[in-house]
Order: sequence, then structure tokens, then C-alpha cells
Amino acid sequence: MKKVIILGCGGFVGSHLTDRMLASGEYHIEGWDISFDKISQHLDNPNLSSHQRYIDRDSTFEEIEPYVEGAHAVISLAAVCTPAQYVSSPVKTIRSNFIDAYALIDLCAKHRSWLVHTSTCEVYGRTLSSYVPTDNYDNPDLYEQREDETPLVVGPTKNHRWSYSTAKQLFERYIYAHNVENGMPFTIIRPYNWFGARMDFIPGRDGEGVPRVLACFMTALLDDQPLQLVDGGLAYRTITYIDDAVDALMLMLENPKGSQNQVFNVGNRGGEVTMKELALMMRELAAEITGKEKFRDHPIEEITGEKFYGEGYEDCDRRVPDVSKAESRLGWKAKTDLRETLRITMTHYFEQYGREKGLHPSQAK
Ligand SMILES: NC(=O)c1ccc[n+]([C@@H]2O[C@H](COP(=O)([O-])OP(=O)(O)OC[C@H]3O[C@@H](n4cnc5c(N)ncnc54)[C@H](O)[C@@H]3O)[C@@H](O)[C@H]2O)c1
Repeated sequence: MKKVIILGCGGFVGSHLTDRMLASGEYHIEGWDISFDKISQHLDNPNLSSHQRYIDRDSTFEEIEPYVEGAHAVISLAAVCTPAQYVSSPVKTIRSNFIDAYALIDLCAKHRSWLVHTSTCEVYGRTLSSYVPTDNYDNPDLYEQREDETPLVVGPTKNHRWSYSTAKQLFERYIYAHNVENGMPFTIIRPYNWFGARMDFIPGRDGEGVPRVLACFMTALLDDQPLQLVDGGLAYRTITYIDDAVDALMLMLENPKGSQNQVFNVGNRGGEVTMKELALMMRELAAEITGKEKFRDHPIEEITGEKFYGEGYEDCDRRVPDVSKAESRLGWKAKTDLRETLRITMTHYFEQYGREKGLHPSQAK
């Protein structure tokens, strides 16, 4: 039985990873989070020890150090990671993604423990192609993101949008520094829009604030409100199914030789879509899943980024991962296409929130 420590095991990624690890029967998890609602079905499992607590810089050593000895890996997933918070709460974002978190790196360095950290594709910032005058979107050298080559290009400090990206970037650099100076093994993962069940709350039902795009669009579909396209919905994202992402994480954990001291993009190149295309596809799928034809004409409206997120908003224009490293070192490739990813994810959302409004898939006529 391999012992692992997971910070943020009760979140979206953490809950799926916990499902998979416990199902394998090969791992014992020491897991920290402030809420275990998403993994409540596992709380009686003897292979999960739950620690319900917010971990900050000061409590890291006191809380986690007693469990580090002999751990196979320390997996860090805990973060503030919704775009609305990067703009509305940049202090909280930087605290969460760097200040409260870096002591974990010091702890792993002290014990030479393997730190497996989920960073973000947002560290790349904007594409180089967005800064050159001609339309260079067809030149992969200017938009494709390669872990060990592509520059990390973000906007001015006054645009708080980059608070998350730069905090994550400094975290990555601090990991590297401890690797070079103290031999701490690490794996850094840059997720590309992992989608799936339990991804985010629905405002007014089980959370408050502005969630990530999938849950924003789902809220609009459930509440009969227009789908809001920020700045015309022209930005691209590369959407990856959570089960494929968890496959990558498991392959990393099973193959330290292939994954240690490396940064990996984990994304589905075939899942690239503009936010406008995403909205159109979700309207169609909503009709198919619920049997309600009205969704095909569900209203869509445009809104500026500043109005939607607040002052200091700026967007990443496009994110296309080079995943050749994950393919060659881990034998990993995304298997689930975009439509299927959305169908599975939206079905879960309609199952969880749709019954009252006759939108549960079992109520489809
Ligand atoms: N989901 C994605 O597509 C995506 C994309 C880019 C990066 N990431 C990164 O992956 C990681 C996991 O993301 P997620 O989507 O599961 O986010 P999430 O918000 O669903 O989960 C994070 C969990 O961490 C917990 N947490 C936060 N700070 C904590 C603290 N100090 N102490 C204890 N618990 C704390 C939260 O309660 C939450 O359950 C994050 O680091 C995120 O930046 C995810």
C-alpha cells in the first residue's frame, strides 16, 4: 500500500483522484481540505484519513510533517482557482497560490519528498501570436505551448487577472529552485480546462460568486437566463475530460522515473473550442439531454470582460498544449472528445440540479 498526502482532496480534481486511488486498492490517502462533501461516500473507507482544516503557511509543518515520513508522494491541489476571484480577490488568490502554499515546498525539500503539484496552463499567459500584428494563429511556433521552451507572457501588473498565473509561476520556480539546490524530486502538471462532474457550484444553489465557464453556462440554462459571452466569446480553450486527466496523474504516480523532475502539459489538443462555439454546443446538448427543444434557441448575449469580472480583467487568448512529453514519457493521450466530455458533464449537472425544473434527464420526453 502506497501512502500519499493530498492537499485539496475534497475539490473537483481531488475528488476524482480520490475515487480512482481508493478504487485501485493500492493507496492510503492522508487528505486535507476544508470540505469533504464531494467525497463524503469515502469517509468510512479505512484507506482515507481525512483532516478537515485550512492549511496555511504557519500550519503546514505542524499539520503535515508527521505524515511525510515514508510517503510515496505529496500531491498539492489546494488553491483558489476561479477566474472571477483572480480579479475580485487578488490578495486571496496570491495568498492561496503562493504565500500559504510555499511552506509545503520547504517541507518536501526538508524530507526530499516527491512533490506532485498541479500548476496551470495559465502560467503561459497570452500567446506570442496575440502580440504580433498579423494573424499568426496558423503558426504553431507562436501559439503552441511547450513545457520547457515557451515563454510565459503575461499582461501588466494593474490587470489583476494575472495574479493567479504569476503566483503559480513563482510557485513553479520555487519548486525548481529546491530541486536544484536541495535535490527535492518534483512533478509539475499544467492542466488545460479539465471538465467533469462536481467541477463547480451553481450560484444560489450550493455556492456564491462566479464559477468557471461551464458552471456559468449551466446556471444560465437551468435558470432560463441568457448565456453570457465575455468579450464576444472569441477566446479559445482546450477542454479535457477529468477521467483522462486522472489517467495522466495515475500514470505519473505509478512511474516516478518517467515523471519526476518534469513539467507536463495535460490537455486534449482535439478539445479546442472558442467560448462562443462552446455556448452553441451546450445549447444543442441541453436539448438532447433534457428533451427540451427550446434550448436550441436559448438566448445568448455579449458582455464585456470588465462588466462581467470587474476592473483588471484581461484574457488568455488561446491555449494549445504540446503533449508530446506526456505521450513519450508516460504513454498518455486524451481519449474523450469534446462533445462526449460535455455530454457527460452536462448530464451530471442536469441530474444534480435539474429535477425541480423538469430538466432531469429521466424526465426527458
Ligand atoms: N480544473 C482545472 O481545469 C484546472 C485548471 C488549471 C489548474 N488547476 C489546478 O488544479 C488544482 C485543483 O483544481 P480544482 O479544479 O480541483 O479546484 P477546486 O477549487 O475544486 O479544489 C481545490 C480544493 O482545495 C481546497 N483548499 C483550497 N485551499 C486550501 C487550503 N489552504 N487548505 C485546505 N484546503 C484548501 C478547497 O476547499 C477545494 O476543495 C488547483 O491547484 C488548480 O489551480 C485546475
